[in-house]
Amino acid sequence: AEDGYDLWLRYAPLETQAAAGYRERLGHLVAPATNATQRAARDELVRGIGGLLGKAPAQADSVDGAGALLVGTPSSSPAIGRLGLELDALGDEGYLIRTVDIGGNAATVVAANSDTGALYGAFHLLRLLQSRQPIDALDLRESPKVRLRVLNHWDDLNRHVERGYSGQSIWDWHRLPDWLDPRYTDYARANASIGVNGTVLNNVNANAQILTAPYLEKVAALAGVMRPYGIRVYISARFSAPMEIGGLETADPLDPAVRRWWQAKADEIYAKVPDFGGFLVKANSEGQPGPQDFGRSHADGANMLAEVLAPHGGIVMWRAFVYSDEEPDDRHKQAYTEFVPHDGEFRDNVLVQVKNGAIDFQPREPFHPLFGAMPKTPLMMEFQITKEYLGFATHLVYLGPMYEEVLRADTHAKGPGSTVAKVVDGSLDGHTLSGIAGVANIGSDRNWSGSHFDQANWYVFGRMAWDPSLEARAIADEWVRMTFTNDPAFVEPVVEMMMASHQAAVDYMTPLGLHHLMGRGHHYGPAPWVEGGPRADWTSVYFHRATKEGIGFDRTTSGSDAVSQYAPPVAEVFNDPARVPEDFLLWFHHRPWTSRVASGRTLWDELVHRYSRGVGAVARMRDTWAGLDRHVDPERHHQVERFLAIQQQEAQWWRDASIAYFQTFSGLPLPEGEAPPP
Ligand code: GCU
Repeated sequence: AEDGYDLWLRYAPLETQAAAGYRERLGHLVAPATNATQRAARDELVRGIGGLLGKAPAQADSVDGAGALLVGTPSSSPAIGRLGLELDALGDEGYLIRTVDIGGNAATVVAANSDTGALYGAFHLLRLLQSRQPIDALDLRESPKVRLRVLNHWDDLNRHVERGYSGQSIWDWHRLPDWLDPRYTDYARANASIGVNGTVLNNVNANAQILTAPYLEKVAALAGVMRPYGIRVYISARFSAPMEIGGLETADPLDPAVRRWWQAKADEIYAKVPDFGGFLVKANSEGQPGPQDFGRSHADGANMLAEVLAPHGGIVMWRAFVYSDEEPDDRHKQAYTEFVPHDGEFRDNVLVQVKNGAIDFQPREPFHPLFGAMPKTPLMMEFQITKEYLGFATHLVYLGPMYEEVLRADTHAKGPGSTVAKVVDGSLDGHTLSGIAGVANIGSDRNWSGSHFDQANWYVFGRMAWDPSLEARAIADEWVRMTFTNDPAFVEPVVEMMMASHQAAVDYMTPLGLHHLMGRGHHYGPAPWVEGGPRADWTSVYFHRATKEGIGFDRTTSGSDAVSQYAPPVAEVFNDPARVPEDFLLWFHHRPWTSRVASGRTLWDELVHRYSRGVGAVARMRDTWAGLDRHVDPERHHQVERFLAIQQQEAQWWRDASIAYFQTFSGLPLPEGEAPPP
């Protein structure tokens, strides 16, 4: 049955004609298999080519006439060594794929400096077949633009997944280390296929238990599964672990006993996992312990951990998602306020991990003001793949356009062209350490991600982490071909539908820069009316600030002044209601209901228009999908069809609830032709 388990690695048979053409080129495979990574590459090619072309390639020790596929490194494969290819510039993880002449016959070569590079190249070659690209005259060179491409699992040790909508945690801690679920290997394959090279196994709201000896055995077992696929494991470390599991009175990062404890812990971890990646830390945020509890700074805390990991080659990913116990005047400003003064103080194996926007994974946020503001510190991007604020796994929202929008945003930190992507890939400030993290949407559901289309979000994350300049549309196109079919009658409308889906969700949830209006706690469905409770910034009214006169959060120089955290050319634009991109109008401005926007409508009319436009877009997505049934197996078609029906109802719910609520402030009638809320 087509249950989605195979993700984009289905390798369903190609049409006879396409298969025949490829088969001529890929008749026999010359690939060493003397270690686990080499075997992974060879096995994937045998499986993939066998599935796609209906016949696995013969395996040979050397090139034997036409149709050879050579895979390896100059040291693993004498045949590749003899070709004298220019591989130096490819680095550790890069590869090339080229059509070469060997003894008068065309051969295809996938070559790299490392076995992992060759594995990545093998997946790339398969992708070419899966998406029906010509392979007769190949000349491709690829290497990742970002060094650490890491999934963050918000998985608890009891298998609950924080903000997870696809079942339980895939890590079966109870049966580890002795039972290695085959699913772990499929997870590693899927990640290697998109270039993900790291995984943080546990929740940032961390339980110190994972650092105890029995759990480290389990971690080591998982690391053993990941290793052949080029994936390192990391742990979210609880800052107070020396007190909780170490019996110390303090976790003060400057206390010698605390440092010794972490030193011993690091040595213990590396004895079990020699290629352990390092720690991810959420400190002094939302009640998590951190160095500030002991009067120390983020830099003191991060550096203490970095120092014990450094001799082993490990790194610290220190999160900048902070908000304090005291209510801020504007939460938007806090990370910048806390972190910018420490720029230059972090050890060189520390990255500061920054969410894409300053609030919290809202449907759309302007880029985080920290990007560009800490030139002496490598800043890691943190995207959310799981859709906490975007309809969980039920709503079809392709995140590619959102990632692209943020990565291409211009910080102007070093003049025009200082994009967020250049901050993150290290090129703007000359950092060799760079990283992108994605909060995983993976769980124990048969289809991994809770819905078929949410697999695309895992996929696009990996592809953009490898190369932040890739286009969301091109990635959607390849994903659709690999996951469903190459028939243009399917591919074109589905790619269109995916590309329009993010704007649709923004429109029916939080148009024009509105944000954080979801139900309190669970974050599903509209609740712009939420007020009261323990703190102001846990209410919706804090964020929309609607009154009889107008709506929006004034973050201008005469409001909270969050705009001033951006470089002057950006700040000027955000500060000016006439120039700010309309998508961020109410993020930065409190505007009168009757003021005019670019369309010529009043703000009120435009708001209603956008809510309705979002609902209309979902209705069109549903129609599109309904008409595509003959291209998709009934199992997957049916689930997507039902989920879109739910999404349409809920888009309507968002619109109606939001309009009815905001109308109590504006007191204005609905524009002509707009249906009133029920
Ligand atoms: C959000 C999310 C929390 C999470 C936090 C974080 O606030 O709702 O569940 O712990 O982000 O990123 O640390």
